[in-house]
Amino acid sequence: MYKLAIIGSGNGSNFEAIVKWFQDKGVEITCLSDAEDAFILKRAENLGIKHQFLPFEQNFEYFSKNEFDLVVLAGYMKILPENVLKAMGKVINIHPSLLPAFKGKGAIKKAFLAGVKVSGVTVHYVDFNIDAGKIIAQYPVFIDNSMHLDEFEAEIHEIEHRLYPIVIEKVLEDKVFDFQDLMKSVCSKKKEGGGCGGCGQH
Ligand code: GRF
Repeated sequence: MYKLAIIGSGNGSNFEAIVKWFQDKGVEITCLSDAEDAFILKRAENLGIKHQFLPFEQNFEYFSKNEFDLVVLAGYMKILPENVLKAMGKVINIHPSLLPAFKGKGAIKKAFLAGVKVSGVTVHYVDFNIDAGKIIAQYPVFIDNSMHLDEFEAEIHEIEHRLYPIVIEKVLEDKVFDFQDLMKSVCSKKKEGGGCGGCGQH
């Protein structure tokens, strides 16, 4: 059984999407948060997932004692120092832009206000440089002239929730992420009106 730690500071919508994806797939998930009142912990409680408040200063001790196959950052707002990253082992993150563009906080708004016509979502390994680890997967979101910031934001989050779980599964299994995997997952959801328009099987 794979052991997965998901660590975040806020809302936890990605956490919830990951938990749902791995339901009945034999993956043991632990939810951690550096913010005691973060909604991610509440979601974990509601979903029956093991969870704990983990103050930033206790990261090193915790990850030295608890081993995971993979640590997933999902809205973790602090910068992890080198010793903590080493203790964590394999660590990945999701970022709401097409890296290396729009690194750091507020990436969705920054991309929108910059007037780019394509932005998107990136899943990447975490190393000692912020938002600069090796890219595992990206997915574009197109911004047309009539799109509002809130619509763009909603689309980014929708893509995040579809992309992150699949990529996590691939990384756990030590397999390469293939764009087709995502297409098939969209397909299995069967959008209204029939075919998915992407997997080539409809
Ligand atoms: C996501 O947009 C993610 O890309 C970024 O932080 C946000 C977390 O959202 N790193 P949530 O807590 O998963 O809802």
